[in-house]
Amino acid sequence: MDKFKEEIAKKIVQVIELDEKEIESYIERPKESSNGDYAFPCFRLAKELKKAPPMIAKDISENIQIEGTDIKKVEVVGGYLNFFIDKGEFAKQVLANFSNQGEYGSSQKGKGKNVVIDYSAPNIAKPFHIGHLRTTVIGGALYNIYKYLGYNTIGINYLGDYGTQFGKLIEGYKLWGEEYNLDENPISELMKIYIRINNLCKEDEQVLERCRENFKKLEQGDKYCVDLWEKFRELSIKEFKKIYDLLGSKFDSWDGESFIATKADEIPKILEKAGKLQDSNGAKIVDLEDEGIDTPCMIQKSNGSTIYATRDLAAILYRARTYDFDKCLYVVAYEQNLHFKQIFTVAKYLGLDEKYVKGLEHVAFGMVSLPTGKMSTRSGNIVKIEDLLNEAIQRAGETINKKNPNLENKEEIAKKVGIGAVIFNNLSSSRVKDIIFDWDTALNFQGETGPYIQYTYVRTQSVMNKLDTIPEIAEINFEKLEDDYSQEILKLIYRFDETLEQVTQKEEPAILTRYLLDLAKAFSSFYNENKIIGEEEETQNARVYLTRAVGEVLKIGAKLLGIEMPEKM
Ligand code: ARG
Repeated sequence: MDKFKEEIAKKIVQVIELDEKEIESYIERPKESSNGDYAFPCFRLAKELKKAPPMIAKDISENIQIEGTDIKKVEVVGGYLNFFIDKGEFAKQVLANFSNQGEYGSSQKGKGKNVVIDYSAPNIAKPFHIGHLRTTVIGGALYNIYKYLGYNTIGINYLGDYGTQFGKLIEGYKLWGEEYNLDENPISELMKIYIRINNLCKEDEQVLERCRENFKKLEQGDKYCVDLWEKFRELSIKEFKKIYDLLGSKFDSWDGESFIATKADEIPKILEKAGKLQDSNGAKIVDLEDEGIDTPCMIQKSNGSTIYATRDLAAILYRARTYDFDKCLYVVAYEQNLHFKQIFTVAKYLGLDEKYVKGLEHVAFGMVSLPTGKMSTRSGNIVKIEDLLNEAIQRAGETINKKNPNLENKEEIAKKVGIGAVIFNNLSSSRVKDIIFDWDTALNFQGETGPYIQYTYVRTQSVMNKLDTIPEIAEINFEKLEDDYSQEILKLIYRFDETLEQVTQKEEPAILTRYLLDLAKAFSSFYNENKIIGEEEETQNARVYLTRAVGEVLKIGAKLLGIEMPEKM
């Protein structure tokens, strides 16, 4: 909420009788401060008022009553009305607002609303790949931000722990299990077994048949098969947890595909009843051509088993019933666009309340390419994410060693910087974009990076550390913050809650990374142009207070993205 916009709108509707909320929604924030702090474009009203925009602007400016308000001046420029807010008053309101809130920018906007976020979701016995890293990071940021805005947020790691491939893996393990050391490198060893058995299946139809048998047995609860599957699952989760520990990722639920598979029988039945199920060479499908989707959605294979889509449909039912969600977000690569289009359409036939169908949203993201060479293993392009994260930590450590060799707790700081760099890099381009992960760009202390945000934060803290006491808000003379550098910072601080809200409207954490970069840059200019300590007392106090606010907002913002701040670096 922007109190100044409200105030301007209130004054405008005293002159022209229009809806206050509508007027407020037209008010912009000009990029150039010479065009005022707020601008009202009169073009929108030309039709309704049957007048040229510059005339409308002139009329309003001549009749608007601004005495006793925070508006200092109104100017007409073409069809625009530019409003100038009293700078000292602005500083006072922004910082008072900042100091009054315990957790700045947090709110109860989402109170009573349930948001399910399905993210990470790696597949067991398969590598946790770079795409899984991106969903983990994007989903984690959205999770934190929704929570901060008061939503009841449920983070689900929908593990890919089910499917016919486990029949194969069981067979391979039965044949050659002893040759592989699963304790050391479970996932890559299981991959090797999988590749080997897959090749054998191609040569020998009988082996393939045995694999199918195994999967059936697994479904029926056969002890040998279930035990093995559980072993694979546990070993994989243990590996994934190393990555989650490094990233600080948390989930409320690990209900994966195997859990949902036990609830999936219902889906073909409901669709059958709804008259939507068709036969296609023994398999069951839902035709979606009338909905503008060319590819039908497969629901049941000819052997009667369910598939990925069926389980996702069952998961929708389960989540609607269990969590009564207002939104259910799927943070999954855009490669699965068709899948989600299909299941969201089929979801309309499940007899669910419309609210749930409307709440489904695919939060798609682009691909990440990695530098080749050192990062890829011999078997191809598979990069162990754990190795990537550790390398980021190591490289951050090297930079810190060079820049600040006497720093204490170097290891802990290197971890924050290295991991922070990877997280920020995964978030800072709009999510639908493909990105290239490049070490030098990601770890640069001066670029548009996580380390730059951390470095700026550390600067704010070093200002604080030079002082014995930090001034209280009551001691601040806000007129000392009327310069452009301070005002730029204040405008950004004022916009923090709005920024968080925009993230949830677009499901786009890059809005927050952009904001933090803007704030860090505004602070860097302020810091380079102004003396903070050593000025006469009133100016020093005001600037210190502003610095403190910048530090706090940077820290809160970074934390919401999953990035920890070092106090020194
Ligand atoms: N396990 C899947 C994969 O790695 C992603 C699952 C995403 N979530 C979902 N409900 N389909 O591709």
